[in-house]
Amino acid sequence: MPPNRYLIAAGPTREPIDPVRYIGNRSSGRLGIALADAAARRGHATTLLLGPSGVFPSDPSVLTERFERAEELERLIRDRLHDRDIFIMAAAVADYRPRTRQADKIRREGPSLTIELEQVPDILAGLADVRRPHQLIVGFALEPRSKLLESAQAKLERKQVDMIVANPLETMDATTIEALLIRHDAPPESVGSTHAPLDKQVFASMLIDRCDALLDARADSRSASP
Ligand code: CTP
Repeated sequence: MPPNRYLIAAGPTREPIDPVRYIGNRSSGRLGIALADAAARRGHATTLLLGPSGVFPSDPSVLTERFERAEELERLIRDRLHDRDIFIMAAAVADYRPRTRQADKIRREGPSLTIELEQVPDILAGLADVRRPHQLIVGFALEPRSKLLESAQAKLERKQVDMIVANPLETMDATTIEALLIRHDAPPESVGSTHAPLDKQVFASMLIDRCDALLDARADSRSASP
């Protein structure tokens, strides 16, 4: 199998409120980092876009670029996507950010404080106009268990990606994972369960193998078509 070119985004975003405070989330980036290591171990050229996280890839061939704000992540993705075969978007992007960043540190004045938030654009959905037909794009969906399948299927359509990896909320910041793989051309596939959750490293290797096989199948069907 020839090496592929991977772009993987992982970790949380930080949206500044003032020079010392931000809105963040509990994502550790561990799964995305494990995916980057698994891809690099297979000899794939791998770039990891990594948010503020204390965890780092262990394979020295992973090229790591850092981001904090969703806007920085979006710029990096749009700059790097064009020469990639596979993009895995595992970053935990803020849904809302402060409308303005206060230039000075907010002081403790008055009994309450209101911070106005604005919606962060959906980075993945916005890639529909720049992605190339041969590229495989994988998104994630973090959902309450009761809505896992329904919400993930809606995200598969809305974000126009090739696969959604749906995880119950408990997966965030954990070392293990349960996942439902949702695609247009195959029935949902469950990986790991409440009784037997998978280690994130094991899951990462499996997902990279799956992505490689899907890309290969796509290339085969292109060369077979008249
Ligand atoms: N995502 C993105 N840009 C955003 C928010 C999310 O690209 N502004 C990506 C995530 O990296 C993930 C997928 O979209 O691959 C789903 O993210 P998720 O947080 O589950 O869904 P949202 O689109 O934010 O919808 P909701 O919060 O309503 O579930």
